[in-house]
Amino acid sequence: MTVTDTTPAPHEADAPLAPIYRLAGVTRTYRQKDRIVKALTGVDLDIAAGEFVTIQGPTGGGKSTLLQLLGALDRPSAGSVLLAGTDIAQASPAELGRLRATEIGFVFQGFNLIPTLTAHENVDMALEPLGLSRQERAARVTEALVHVGLDDRADHRPGELSGGQQQRVAIARAIVKRPRVLLADEPTGNLDESMRDEILTVLQALNAEGLTLIVVTHDSAVARRATRRLRLEKGTVRDITRTR
Ligand SMILES: Nc1ncnc2c1ncn2[C@@H]1O[C@H](COP(=O)(O)OP(=O)(O)OP(=O)(O)O)[C@@H](O)[C@H]1O
Ligand SMILES: [Mg+2]
Repeated sequence: MTVTDTTPAPHEADAPLAPIYRLAGVTRTYRQKDRIVKALTGVDLDIAAGEFVTIQGPTGGGKSTLLQLLGALDRPSAGSVLLAGTDIAQASPAELGRLRATEIGFVFQGFNLIPTLTAHENVDMALEPLGLSRQERAARVTEALVHVGLDDRADHRPGELSGGQQQRVAIARAIVKRPRVLLADEPTGNLDESMRDEILTVLQALNAEGLTLIVVTHDSAVARRATRRLRLEKGTVRDITRTR
């Protein structure tokens, strides 16, 4: 799968890689009654096309907060979050919606599939905002299900699939719009070891094709597959790629 025609391949190390994400001085504070919680405190971070980044760290460290900012689901209290040149901190609600619909794929710990819809219908939902023809939609959904090895389960509802298969449907739903980046918050948190490996194999294959992955995880087996490992603690990011 090509992410976009202009995305440089990860191996083109000499080409000047424009970062997919550029975060500068990102702070996110939450007001809780009379208390202020600092979830992120001045995060500076560049993520290049083709990276597979994991984010680890203690509970409450700010991982989900950061992922929500990267996913254009939230805005920083201060600082800038550039996604392919667009500042999420400044963008209009319509622009944020467009980014979520076209540029960003999301995968959650709890799969978040609609139980009454088949695998095919769940994946198709992500194409609704794109205004494609029925034919193009059907072709794209089938392609995405083939990508995660589930084209033979297209007519199954979530309750008729294993946990690993449900998460693969959720990945197909995330990639069917051909996003620039795939964000995942604990994608293997609800899975046993063999299903976790199933998901890791799918994620690694997508990354090998050039898709940028950013994965929050408590699982060091997931982090071992990454090209860069970050640790987020007390709202501050540290690179731990070489100090595992
Ligand atoms: N909507 C909110 N309102 C107030 N405080 C919040 C809100 N969301 C998160 N926080 C606080 O911000 C801090 C960071 O939370 P966050 O959910 O980002 O942590 P996390 O690293 O994802 O933790 P976990 O590993 O448990 O998922 C925590 O102290 C949390 O209590
Ligand atoms: Mg979290």
